[in-house]
Formats: sequence, structure tokens, C-alpha cells
Amino acid sequence: MQLKSAVALALAAPAWAMLRFSCSQLVVDRIDPLVQPGQAPSAHLHQIVGGNAFAPEMEPATDLPSVATCTTCTFTEDFSNYWTAVLYFKARNGTYKRVPTFANQFLEPANGGITVYYIPPYDMKTNVTAFQKGFRMLVGDSTKRTDAKDEESQQLSFRCWSKNYGGDSFGAPGTGLDTKFLPNHPCPGGIRANHFFPTCWDGKNLDSPDHKSHVAYALSGGVGGECPASHPVKIPQILYEVAWDTSAFNDPNEWPEDGSQPFVFSFGDKTGYGTHADYLFGWKDNALQRAMDAFCGVDCPQLKTQSTQQANRCTIQPKVVEPIDQWLTELPGGAHAGN
Ligand SMILES: *[C@@H]1O[C@H](CO)[C@@H](O)[C@H](O)[C@H]1NC(C)=O
Ligand SMILES: *[C@@H]1O[C@H](CO)[C@@H](O)[C@H](O)[C@H]1NC(C)=O
Repeated sequence: MQLKSAVALALAAPAWAMLRFSCSQLVVDRIDPLVQPGQAPSAHLHQIVGGNAFAPEMEPATDLPSVATCTTCTFTEDFSNYWTAVLYFKARNGTYKRVPTFANQFLEPANGGITVYYIPPYDMKTNVTAFQKGFRMLVGDSTKRTDAKDEESQQLSFRCWSKNYGGDSFGAPGTGLDTKFLPNHPCPGGIRANHFFPTCWDGKNLDSPDHKSHVAYALSGGVGGECPASHPVKIPQILYEVAWDTSAFNDPNEWPEDGSQPFVFSFGDKTGYGTHADYLFGWKDNALQRAMDAFCGVDCPQLKTQSTQQANRCTIQPKVVEPIDQWLTELPGGAHAGN
């Protein structure tokens, strides 16, 4: 796929730039304003980053930058919310322990969370249209347990890191070493989960009933590819990387005796095919458009920034108070660790 080599190139050569920044952990909570608005608790546990206006119900008309007072992201005009499910380790005795996230490379000392990318077209010329107030979308499907072999499933993957940030398993997300399933052997450096969002928009709808139909992947590969006529507007490609710190759970004597791997997502998925990610746009005014028009890289003079230490101080209390961090006899919400 074009995108893969383009991302690899960007890591090596500064000529092709993209926004890449840290958003530290805001909260781990069992709410989901996109798929289950207003429900507290929602079906399963999430880890959320971004602006502190995150809540069980988030009206599209709300201007997040006017109601949020801090953000966990490096760019302080970004009050968006980004979230994924949470990973648990299932021990031989059947109890579960939450797997923490850790800071990605060059983004230390972030308090875990998500590394967020906004990726422009490779030619560094083609303009993209930034998202608008009220825009939201979802990638992935929590009910999948096999390789659906559809376009979306090409965009979700896992990297088994031999040591922190890869070591000899270093490489861009979506490239050869990635698997679409959770790695089947211990990963000494942790597991990086990659979620690439679609790059084309219908130009009209800020959301859709399945939170997906208003966006589409390009006909050919990543953000530079031609958009389908139904979704003609090029949008930046958002990528989430989540670095799961599995180091406390790599003892083969604690892994299942049947040779399977021990990690399970908070919605009961042991395969990894159900991995999914949620996005709720909340940049101030036209800050994101400015950054995209400037084809900003990691350092973006067009945007205001804060230190990672300051970003770490932005946190909120969970709305749903329940045990999530001790050894648990069942997953929060009771999802069953099937296959
Ligand atoms: C279950 O196994 C884990 C990991 O070995 C251990 O830390 C925990 O104390 C055990 N719980 C019980 C109830 O035996
Ligand atoms: C892209 O956007 C920039 C900034 O708004 C503008 O100067 C430029 O002309 C645009 N390029 C194209 C090809 O439309």
C-alpha cells in the first residue's frame, strides 16, 4: 500500500512532514459519547485523551474549545477527544489486570495515552479540508473476530515490539511486520496498536448512523489517493498509535497453557480483529486548517504548544466509579473473553 512506504519515508526524511503529537491519558472510564451517548456506564471501558470537556453526552453543536479548560495534547488549541478500548491481561487463574499505556518515542514523559497523527497528502501540495465543529467518526468494529478482509481491516494493525519503540522490530505502522491480530508471542517492548482513519468525506454530514458512512477510504491507498465520487472532499488522515506496556505480563509461565495469547480487549475480544477507535473533533477556530495548509511537521509554528509535563496535569475523574485496576474476576461491564 502506498501509505505504508510514505509513512516510512517520512520518518527518515524531513521533506514529507505530518503532525505527530502526544495526548496523555485524560481518564479511563466506561462511557462512550459517540456510540452510546448519555449512557454511564456504557458497555465497555475506554481510555480517553484530549480536552477535559469529555462527558457521557457531547452535543455536536457544542464548541469544545469554549467549554474545555485544558487538554492533554501537545497542541493547546486541540480540545478534540480521541479514545480506544482498553487492554487487559487474563491470568491462568482467570483474573484480569489492566495493561497500562506508555509514552511513544520522542514523546516522553507523556503519561501514556495516544500518539495522534494528522497526515497530509504525500505531494505536500494538495490541500485537505480540516474537520468542522461537530464532526465525529469511528474506525473499526467491536464485533469483528476474524479477518474481514475489507478496506477498513487493512487499516488496523498491531506491532510486536522487541524492545521499547521497536528495536529491531522498528518500523512504520501498517508495514510488513504488523499483524491484524494481537501478537501470538510475548512482545518485550510492548504492543503498538495502529488505527488509520478514512481520508475522504461526503462534504455534508458531520456524522452518520454508523459513524462511518459519511467518510470513506481513498480509491488507491492513503491520503494522497483519489476520493470516490460519493466522498469527494479530502480530509487529513488521522492515525492513532497506542503503546501498550505489556512488560509485566511477558512470563511464558503465566501465559495460557493451550498456547494462545493472554490479552483481551475490554469488550471481550482476544483476537484483536475488533479493535476500534473514536474521534470527536474539537480544534479551536481554524487552527487545524492553518496547520494543514502549512503542511506542518512535528514543530508547527502555526500552532500553540504546551510542555508534556503540563499536558500530563490535565485529567478528569471517571464518571463511572468501579474497580478497573486491581485483579478483577470479570471485565468492567462483564464482557466475556470469548475468542
Ligand atoms: C491470579 O494470578 C495473578 C497472576 O499470577 C496473581 O497476581 C493473582 O494474585 C492471582 N489471584 C488469585 C485470586 O489467585
Ligand atoms: C491550498 O491552500 C493554501 C492556503 O489556503 C492556498 O494558498 C493554496 O493556493 C491552495 N492550493 C491549492 C492547489 O488550492
